[in-house]
Amino acid sequence: MRLGVNVDHVATVRQARRGRLPDPVEAARLCERAGAQGIVCHLREDRRHIQEDDVKRLRKTLTTRLNLEMSIARDVVRAALAIQPHQVTLVPERRQELTTEGGLDVVRARRSLAPLIRSFQRQQITVSLFVDPVPTQLKAAQDVGAAMVELHTGRYANAGSRAERVRALDALRRAAQASRAFGLSVAAGHGLDYHNVSAVARLPELEELNIGFSIISRALFVGLEQAVREMVERMHRRPSHVFQHQAA
Ligand code: PXP
Repeated sequence: MRLGVNVDHVATVRQARRGRLPDPVEAARLCERAGAQGIVCHLREDRRHIQEDDVKRLRKTLTTRLNLEMSIARDVVRAALAIQPHQVTLVPERRQELTTEGGLDVVRARRSLAPLIRSFQRQQITVSLFVDPVPTQLKAAQDVGAAMVELHTGRYANAGSRAERVRALDALRRAAQASRAFGLSVAAGHGLDYHNVSAVARLPELEELNIGFSIISRALFVGLEQAVREMVERMHRRPSHVFQHQAA
């Protein structure tokens, strides 16, 4: 199971003063040193945190893989094709949202997604689609030619009761199995933290977890390398009973 660390929020702090520090590229270097197997950043349309120059510098300096989250807005696509990250993860984007709120509606966007995915693949850029754990979306992801899906774990992470969490984890399990059956590689992310990550990390079909907010928040108190190491350790730990799920 790989850990991809999202460094957007390092750039969020920098943008508070519009200066040069803290540098998300330096943060990425520390994450890699602490055991992250990939770095994720989101070039948002409003450029509220990560800037194009950050993505270019990450691409030049990373020793692991750069996974660029992005919408399908024309200028962002142009930037991505020029910078050539190892992977792009296509996400829906609304300007007013605090973070990515739902999965991509692949069923609806099928026609525009298929040629876009081909243009990335022509440049050997892996394309992942960020989707809700719903069978129709997974089938559509296969139909449009994506190599990978990232399952949205927000419902699981934000569940208000144990019963809701159990249902959400079950949906993730079934979606991970279905994705593999469709020949898709499977990642997951959004809202994962030190308490809820273990149960998700045990789903055998999942290859990668992408985590940002909880790691960067923890880093304020223990330092970034320690925060990443702790997350790697939690990913390999048995889940506490609160997050365990007994259903088949
Ligand atoms: N994966 C995707 C597709 C996302 O949009 C985000 C949020 O930027 C994450 C993972 C990481 O979520 P979090 O910051 O809640 O860990």
